Formats: sequence, structure tokens, C-alpha cells
Amino acid sequence: MLDGFLAESIVGRARESGLIGITVHNLRDWTTDKHHTADDRPFGGGAGMLLKPEPVFAAIEQLQSPGCRRIYLTPDGVPLSPAVAKELSGLEHLILLSGHYEGIDQRIRDSVIDQEISIGDYVLTNGTLAAAVLVDALSRFIPGVLGEEKSLTHESFTGKLLDFPQYTRPAEFRGMSVPDVLLSGNHAEIEKWRRDHALEKTRQVRPDLLK
Ligand code: ADE
Repeated sequence: MLDGFLAESIVGRARESGLIGITVHNLRDWTTDKHHTADDRPFGGGAGMLLKPEPVFAAIEQLQSPGCRRIYLTPDGVPLSPAVAKELSGLEHLILLSGHYEGIDQRIRDSVIDQEISIGDYVLTNGTLAAAVLVDALSRFIPGVLGEEKSLTHESFTGKLLDFPQYTRPAEFRGMSVPDVLLSGNHAEIEKWRRDHALEKTRQVRPDLLK
């Protein structure tokens, strides 16, 4: 699931240039039975399977380093935000645990997980995608990962507003023209236009952000 994501585009280039190191591990490598069993049925009944504690404890205990942050991706975690992504981008070593079943044995959370993160109020079939989203979101805060440092400052959420509309050439396309002010070269007017439109967009789409 991760090969394309880790090899391509901005994250791929950041790995190539050594700005980020990412290793994918398979929990089955830490199982000890012949069938490499990593899951089992929940005590007390109920649907689905849970990740067993033994392989997860063994994996994390082997991979962890002093001061590393051990994170479990789960829909019942604390929502991912720019602040969370930024904080994590400053840490030396993260371990991301993704569940593939109904969940994981609570003792894993109690003993070898430091932080639980959700990427949104929906349930994915596989926490690996959530781990990829987290990696992508935090990579952007690592200096040098984005070509242009500026592209961080002007975008949705960094400034607590959604993005303003943007246009490129041609100035006239199928009868739709670019707002005059953007062609004016008047930077103060352009800034004001952008801020007004960012506010309006935020008011319409995410009024909660304005509170
Ligand atoms: N695993 C499944 N759904 C998830 C979500 N929304 N966030 C984080 N991990 C998940």
C-alpha cells in the first residue's frame, strides 16, 4: 500500500535527499507461530479481530529509541491538526502503528503507545492509509521538504483561514476572466482581495474555524 506513496513526489524526493528516513515493517515478522498470526478474537465476544499484544510489543520494543514517539493511528484518537503535524515534524524518531482489524489489544495502548491520532471522523479499512496521511502532513513542515518555503505560509489552515481563489494564464478562458485586481500589480489591493475571499470562503465552508 505504501510503495507508491513513499517513492513518488515530494515525500519520495525528501527520502532520496535524506531529509526523511522511512522504513516499513511487517508485524508478522515478530510473530512466533507457524502461521504468523498477528490477530485474534476479542474477549467478551463481538465482531472482528484484534491485533494481538505479543508481536506489537516485540516490534516496538525492538524498534524504539530513547525519546522516540510511539503513535497509534485510530479513529478514536485525537484529531490530526496542523499543530500536531508541526510538533511531530520536529521529532527525531516516530514509530507509527497502524491497525488492520477491528482494533488492537488495550494493553498495547496502555504500555507501548504514547499518542493516538485520528485523521478524521470516518473509519478506514486500514490504518496504513492514515499513517501515510500523517507522514505527508508532517513532512511539509520539515525544512527543505517543500521546494519553496513560501508555499507553507500562504495556504489553508496555516493562517487559520481556507485558501483564497487562485488563477493562472490565460487571463480569459471560455468567457471566464480572472478578477482585474489580480492583474493590477497592486500588491496591497491583491492582499486585501485575497484576505476578503479567504474570509468569505471560510465563512461559507468552515464557519467553525472563525469562532
Ligand atoms: N484507522 C481507521 N480509520 C482511521 C482514522 N480515521 N484515523 C486514523 N486511523 C484510522
